[in-house]
Amino acid sequence: MAKFTFVKNNQTTNLHTLKEQQMKTIRTFEDYREAYDHSTRDPEGFWEEIAQEYQWQQPWDKVLDWNFDEPSIKWYSGAKLNITENMLDRHLKERGNKLALIWEPNDPKEKFVRLTYKELHEQVCRFANVLKKNGVSKGDRVCIYMPMIPELAVAVIACARIGAVHSVVFAGFSAHALADRINDAQCKLVITSDGLFRGAKEIPVKRVVDEALESCECVERVIVKERVGWLPNMVEDRDVWWDDEIKEADRDCPPEPMDAEDMLFILYTSGSTGKPKGVVHTCGGYMVYTGYTFRNVFDYRESDIYWCTADIGWITGHSYIVYGPLLNGATTMMFEGVPTWPDPGRFWQVVDKYGVNQFYTAPTAIRSLMAHKIDHVLSYSLDSLRVIGSVGEPINAEAWNWYHIHVGKERCPLVDTWWQTETGGVMISGIGNATPLKPTFAGYPMPGVQPVLLDGDGNEIQEDDVEGYLAIKHPWPSMLRTTYGDHERCQKTYFSAFKGYYFTGDGARRDKDGMYRIIGRVDDVINVSGHRFGTAEIENAINQNEKVVESAVVGYPHPIKGQGIYAYVICQDGGADEEILKAEITETVVEEIGKIARPEKIQFVRGLPKTRSGKIMRRILRKVAEGEISNLGDTSTLLDPKVVEEIISGADHVE
Ligand code: PRX
Repeated sequence: MAKFTFVKNNQTTNLHTLKEQQMKTIRTFEDYREAYDHSTRDPEGFWEEIAQEYQWQQPWDKVLDWNFDEPSIKWYSGAKLNITENMLDRHLKERGNKLALIWEPNDPKEKFVRLTYKELHEQVCRFANVLKKNGVSKGDRVCIYMPMIPELAVAVIACARIGAVHSVVFAGFSAHALADRINDAQCKLVITSDGLFRGAKEIPVKRVVDEALESCECVERVIVKERVGWLPNMVEDRDVWWDDEIKEADRDCPPEPMDAEDMLFILYTSGSTGKPKGVVHTCGGYMVYTGYTFRNVFDYRESDIYWCTADIGWITGHSYIVYGPLLNGATTMMFEGVPTWPDPGRFWQVVDKYGVNQFYTAPTAIRSLMAHKIDHVLSYSLDSLRVIGSVGEPINAEAWNWYHIHVGKERCPLVDTWWQTETGGVMISGIGNATPLKPTFAGYPMPGVQPVLLDGDGNEIQEDDVEGYLAIKHPWPSMLRTTYGDHERCQKTYFSAFKGYYFTGDGARRDKDGMYRIIGRVDDVINVSGHRFGTAEIENAINQNEKVVESAVVGYPHPIKGQGIYAYVICQDGGADEEILKAEITETVVEEIGKIARPEKIQFVRGLPKTRSGKIMRRILRKVAEGEISNLGDTSTLLDPKVVEEIISGADHVE
């Protein structure tokens, strides 16, 4: 096996002492308390001070202007900036030869890629010029549908460089889902690759784009990066190769001046209704908040190597692979592969190979590794690790302990970071070594974040040791501003359930120490392996199958994925084989959304438990899926209570 040795940052600097004194950094609980008090006493003063670390082309007139009724939220109004100037240009003088990005390929035998700040800056500028040459200008939307290769990061930053709005779509979504997102944002250009590697598999990517574009009239150009070496169909006058284009491009591309409240990106996420919504983030506030939270949550120091295993197709990858780390001049890693290939020790082999200091992953990955022999972890030293993190779903006690003991060696703080696509950055979390750890608790709110627990009537619950609906009562800089093309939807989804608050959709517990533990979604959102799906979205997909009359989907506890998808389906009569029907329905979901939304269990039923007004009582379906049939609650309002008995007798419950 070929061996590649990795040399850590060769530009060791003493920058950190100087910079840390200038920047607001939390190292102790006292620092945290002080920062938190300041941020609640004087939120504007607090965020004004943090913002001053950055390079602005023009200062702001006002730090914050807001109301949660419309909602209208403006941070740093009047200011001009370009976020990429702060991620790249600002570092060139002192960190030009420092590594900005390390890319670890799917196959450990393939050579890794390292890009210094100078090199990344050059790549970004060249590709930004490619975008311009291909007709993209400020405000245009660009869809990025790519594997985890360095060009994905380059494409994202290049869009920001010229003020184009990126909409990254995770490369596991189907052609149908991709087309919906492209059309919703009216993207002009798509950036993709010929194919992708995932463990032992090679997956076509360009073919999915071609299929999607059959129903997208808005797309004028497709830029294709070669990754697997296939020869995809290139449509004349529409498709061009990344490598051909970038060769010719100029390396000089001045950053486009952007208003602080100009759109930076759109990222689609699922909610209770059928259609995913485009969450909109803007330039100034997103920059200030992701930079600040990255540095503090992960106790980042100048010569660290930081690794977040997420995909850039999700918010975690946006904020904590690309933007947050680069804003701090950090060395960030991108990993193309999966945790279990070629063996379940891959993560730990990579940690040792590069001397990773911060490791950030999802509970589902931890649970999938726990299922394998512990030797896969114990054969690596993991000595370099200083902070380990978790994100995306509640982490159960078993996974928390395994991660803390075997990976963190009980020496590294485990920061359980609660946040959302809509929040842009981490909201409630441990902060490096500064704040206390409590298994399965996210902990205390970040400075600037004012969480509350509400009762069903929208009253704030003041006591501790209570549960309630988790809402936020004051704006923070990286909060969503709208949902693309439909502001009313944003208002209805997040700001109408409890007037005057941003409602998260989560339930939480606050203990006697004031620490928060996230219980999970209280709406019709299912979290499968840290990926969000609306029940209505999956039902819509299932209903596309012509044999399906009606369906109802619920989540149920799954040992590895956190939640699994359980579908109750009414089919037309016809005596078809159940197994064949199940396979067909699964295929329909894969076509409509993607493999990540495949139902774990499908149960055919003759009726669904509906109230007299026709509403499906999902509570009952959830209980049946969990196998909790002794405690179904009140079923007297059902139109036909007999339906429940039938469902119970045919249920595929979890033991
Ligand atoms: O239910 C919460 C859960 O994931 C939801 C947000 O999903 P998404 O927008 O895809 O963002 C995931 C990555 C930031 C939340 O409403 N969630 C996220 N992090 C945690 C969590 N639940 C418990 N603990 C967490 N640390």
